[in-house]
Amino acid sequence: MALASSPRRRDLPLCLLLLLSILALPSLTWQASVLGERSLDALSSDAISLLVSTPDPVKNIDPTNPTSHLSKILIPRPPDTENSTIVRNYIISTLRALKWDVEEDSFIGETPYGSKNFTNVIATKDPSAGRRVVLAAHFDSKFFATYPQNQFVGATDSAAPCAMMLDLAEALDPLLDARKQRLEDGLEDDEDVADTTLQLLFFDGEEAFKDWTATDSVYGARHLAERWSTSYISPHTKRRLLRPSETEISTVEHLILLDLLGAPHPLIRSAFLDTAWLFDAMISAERRLFDTGSFAYGDDEGSSLTSFFLPRREGDGNYGYIEDDHVPFLRKGVSVLHIIASPFPRVWHTLGDDASALDIPTMRRWNLILRVFMAEYLGLQPETKAPRSDDGQAHQSVAHSELVSTFAVMEWSWRLTLSSPVTFDQ
Ligand SMILES: *[C@@H]1O[C@H](CO)[C@@H](O)[C@H](O)[C@H]1NC(C)=O
Ligand SMILES: *[C@@H]1O[C@H](CO)[C@@H](O)[C@H](O)[C@H]1NC(C)=O
Ligand SMILES: [Zn+2]
Repeated sequence: MALASSPRRRDLPLCLLLLLSILALPSLTWQASVLGERSLDALSSDAISLLVSTPDPVKNIDPTNPTSHLSKILIPRPPDTENSTIVRNYIISTLRALKWDVEEDSFIGETPYGSKNFTNVIATKDPSAGRRVVLAAHFDSKFFATYPQNQFVGATDSAAPCAMMLDLAEALDPLLDARKQRLEDGLEDDEDVADTTLQLLFFDGEEAFKDWTATDSVYGARHLAERWSTSYISPHTKRRLLRPSETEISTVEHLILLDLLGAPHPLIRSAFLDTAWLFDAMISAERRLFDTGSFAYGDDEGSSLTSFFLPRREGDGNYGYIEDDHVPFLRKGVSVLHIIASPFPRVWHTLGDDASALDIPTMRRWNLILRVFMAEYLGLQPETKAPRSDDGQAHQSVAHSELVSTFAVMEWSWRLTLSSPVTFDQ
């Protein structure tokens, strides 16, 4: 990711890192028919415990284990190289092993170095679902022409987010199967939510080959946003609940884009008002994981928490955004949640962005946040011993308005309980 306007991004104060979005913001009413803001049912603490332990939230993101998903991705992998194909095939075979539907979206793009082959990977749990929530990251690493820079592996950028997505697929796959079974058995109380599937999108060619420009960046995202907005879903598909003349892109509820994650002490800001409720839901998941002691790992008891997120304040507008793979989708009206560390990790676009830049407890925490957040978004029910109850703690609804109104208090008390002061500056 990058900002078109500033060649020396890392040295700039944060306020300049955020582009004003006035010019580029599309009309956000375009997708009014797609599931928008709603309240999510909070998982019980038993269900959270189960999600925390199964599968092991470290094994997939452990850079010290050469067979982890992360290690398989953590090699130089610029577009149109043998290594890119190796990584792409690894991602594909992992998701095919889970029996997900996997599509390779290949095309040729014009780069400052001539024509290159690019391939996005689109993996869908249930291709017959009427809608999907898309979780995305780019799997390419930035191209450098000369040694040693050409050994750049982009650990935070974005090998770690890709590994987290594979972890999420493994964690939620059986729960998505169970939800589908409930739907088929007529036991699902929210059929609307149950018709939303999870789709993982691994973009190729996010990085600029030379300097970030509108035509030298986000190759895969530009291609796919265009393709999806011009593909009408044929009435012959077996998709349920289809309205006539829907395009692929109109069935995307939200695009959740991960980038520059895996280094310790990230700071995530809410960039878009229409997904502020999702941002708050993610903070709520983090908070409840903290409260249940789920962030304890190794010697760290997880008893002090500096949130990954900068709480929103009443009256916040659209923050302005950092250019990334979401922009071509945003311009076509897709609702976007951008989970990107800003300031960027210190090692950004240097050889230092390798395994040594990653922090296992931080990545473990991201895995857990994503598991709880997506499970609640998708209405999944981790199988706990106790029978499901519709009252009390088990299915407490976290209303958005409630969250916002208690925000100031929560942030205040939260900070008071910290053993060290919260310093968000680098
Ligand atoms: C491909 O990846 C390997 C590590 O598996 C690395 O040693 C090699 O330099 C990479 N090749 C290129 C051309 O970057
Ligand atoms: C793209 O890949 C195909 C083989 O899949 C190859 O024939 C072609 O030359 C490649 N194009 C470029 C621009 O490298
Ligand atoms: Zn990058």
